[in-house]
Amino acid sequence: MPSTHLPSVELHLHIEGTLEPELIFELAARNKVTLPYRDIADLKSRYEFTDLQSFLTLYYANMAVLQTAQDFADLTRAYLRRASAAGVRHAEIFLDPQAHTVRGVSLAACVNGVAGALRDSQAQFGLSSALIITFLRDQPAAEALDTLTQLIAMNAPIIGIGLDSAEVGHPPIDFVEVFDLARAHGLKCVAHAGEEGPPEYVWQALQLLQVSRVDHGIRSLEDPLLVDYLVQNAIPLTVCPLSNVRLRVVDTLADHPLQAMLERGLLVTINSDDPAYFGGYLDDTFAAITRTFNLTVDQLAVLARNGVRAAFIDDDRRAELLAEITHWRAARPA
Ligand code: ADE
Ligand code: ZN
Repeated sequence: MPSTHLPSVELHLHIEGTLEPELIFELAARNKVTLPYRDIADLKSRYEFTDLQSFLTLYYANMAVLQTAQDFADLTRAYLRRASAAGVRHAEIFLDPQAHTVRGVSLAACVNGVAGALRDSQAQFGLSSALIITFLRDQPAAEALDTLTQLIAMNAPIIGIGLDSAEVGHPPIDFVEVFDLARAHGLKCVAHAGEEGPPEYVWQALQLLQVSRVDHGIRSLEDPLLVDYLVQNAIPLTVCPLSNVRLRVVDTLADHPLQAMLERGLLVTINSDDPAYFGGYLDDTFAAITRTFNLTVDQLAVLARNGVRAAFIDDDRRAELLAEITHWRAARPA
């Protein structure tokens, strides 16, 4: 089989989750931040997570090295370079401004740093991209509302908003006002739901926040009526199999309900979430699920097409990406 990668779309990627250990040390030296790790091996030895919160604690702590717009631009370019090598043709990237403004970094520095690098993604790395601002659901909704108001006032180059961080105990209903404001300004809406939280949170994200995609959503399978709703309305789920293993949502990749989800007719897309922490970028993720589930080239093409269907792109770009997938499929025996 030719070795070129499946042309793919990445819709669930936290830019802070692409902060590799080497870059953590490089930025710490640049910004004179003292890290609580002896060396890279010491840092990596802590990448054993028991649940979402155990990951988030380390993840937020490591962000201390991100201080200037240049740092955010360097981080974003490193991701774009790696994503391009992985065959990613379009990426919609999450940024958590509250995780930075709380440390004294300006909203403009983090947003403009990431957005500036994304602006050149097509010319420099050959992939299209867009920015989605995610709000921390374990912080007050008033803070998210204030951040969104500032982003609108500064005419930030964003296509949508999302909701992330610790899920259980922080239901979507708390963020109705934030999402109403976003929709009133023509922004797309997505939300993490049904990762660790119950199917009820997925219902809330759909009905109260009116999201057009659900991030993760794998616990939806516990509610047959919800699955019917997702299927009938072709609501995409941005599934992150390696993340689910590393955060112990499932025990092993073989236990992941990916195939059950596809068999139920769900519009599943494959994503890497926080690849620097979870053991792989999008090509690694596709390779792992292909091995574990013996996926055929047709199944891989379906997953790639689902990503294109779910992306916030115009019809011309969608047609271009679908044609690339058709070409990739045609070059491979069944
Ligand atoms: N922030 C970064 N990764 C996340 C995840 N998997 N779930 C919720 N919030 C996150
Ligand atoms: Zn996520």
